[in-house]
Order: sequence, then C-alpha cells, then structure tokens
Amino acid sequence: MKIIKCDHYDDMSKKAAQVIISDMKEKKDIVLGLATGSTPIGLYKELIKANQEKQISFKDVMTFNLDEYIGISQKHPESYYQFMMRHLFNHVDIDQKNINLPNNDASSIDKHIKAYNDKMKKHPIDVQVLGIGANGHIGFNEPGTPFDNETFIVDLDEDTRIANQRFFDSLDEVPKKAITMGIKNIMRSKKIILLASGIHKAEAIKKMIEGPITTEHPASILQLHPNVEVFVDEEAGSMI
Ligand code: PGA
Repeated sequence: MKIIKCDHYDDMSKKAAQVIISDMKEKKDIVLGLATGSTPIGLYKELIKANQEKQISFKDVMTFNLDEYIGISQKHPESYYQFMMRHLFNHVDIDQKNINLPNNDASSIDKHIKAYNDKMKKHPIDVQVLGIGANGHIGFNEPGTPFDNETFIVDLDEDTRIANQRFFDSLDEVPKKAITMGIKNIMRSKKIILLASGIHKAEAIKKMIEGPITTEHPASILQLHPNVEVFVDEEAGSMI
C-alpha cells in the first residue's frame, strides 16, 4: 500500500484527483468504480473542474458505483443515484448509458445483481475510488462479511445507520438494507484509491494498514491488493 499523507481535506482531494485525471488522460475509455459519502465530494469537484477545463473527458468513460440503499426509491434525494447525479454526473460530459449503479427499483433484485456482476466482469474496473467507514467497512461490506462475496444484499450495521443519519430526518428513515459490491468485486479492480479524512477515521486507517487481515475489519483485505494508494488528511493519518 502506498500511503500519501496530505495536509487537509482539499489537499487530499486534489492529490487523489491528480492520479485519476492522469489515468483518464492515458485511457479515454477508462472504467471507474465510484463511491458515495462525504469523503469523495472534493475529489469529484476536482474532476468536474478538470472536465470543464477540457483536460479530461467522460465521453467514453464507464462507471460502476459501489452501493445503493434498499427501501428508498432511486428518486429519493438521498439515494446514491441522486447523490452521484448531484455531485458528479450532472456536471460532466458522461453518457448516461455508461453510468451503472446497483438499482434498488429493479423488479427482480436478484437478477439485477447477477447482471451487475456480469457487466463488471465484462468491463473490469481500472480505478476504484473508496472511502472507509469508522468500523472498517469498504462499500457496505460491514464487519463480518466474507471476503469472497460478490455484489449482495447487506443488512446495514447500526453504527453505519447512525453515521448516515445526518442525511435523513431521523434514524428511523435511514434504510436498513443496501445492495453493495462485495469485497471480491473490489479486489478485482486494477487500482484502488482510498480516501479518508478526519480523526474519526484514524483508527480504521491504522487497523487497515497495520492490523491483522480479518473480516472483522474489512478494509484490512486491501493489504493483499497489489495497487492501492491511500490518501489521508492529517487527522485520518495521525495514528500511522
Ligand atoms: P463518509 O463515508 O465518506 O461519509 O465518511 C465513508 C464510508 O462509510 O465508507
């Protein structure tokens, strides 16, 4: 794992964006794996800026998102589909047909999940963007999830629901389930860019890098991936 210690959130977002921008320049039809959450918003702003300045184009780019809630419609403002539209896709020249997210409105979720896995096998992810949960989750692979899962339906941890309550009016409204790419899908990506910001992520980052590889801390599996770049701000990197 390559660790890049950054001064603050903006510095982290810019440095991580530089890697993706340079990969996008090299491969116009790059396949990107994308994450939601507060952490990658700054990175997406940098990608939007680079797109508007015509440094990069999303015209031939394909994307796969890590996860989506079950229990709220794609049209709900807090669905990850809407998040991605708001924070990236509405502002860049991506072709709508190249955007892939797990679809919680699919008539048969099982069929949809199989199709999602199959499509990722056909279009392997070149660069996967990841955040990390304070509990060590990547995507919504909560502690205890087997490492050999492909995309599946997960029961969200209470910790995760509480962490995400800030986006909803009450804890009751936070979905209890989600569709998430599994660790196996994530580990197939050719490169992984993981970002973490804030003191509440410091312990998760330490365990990811230095701890034993265990399903109790899902991000620890990344120690076995050959090409991971970890961008941390000063607080998230304060224990390593
Ligand atoms: P955050 O979420 O970016 O909102 O902190 C990250 C995660 O839970 O994976």
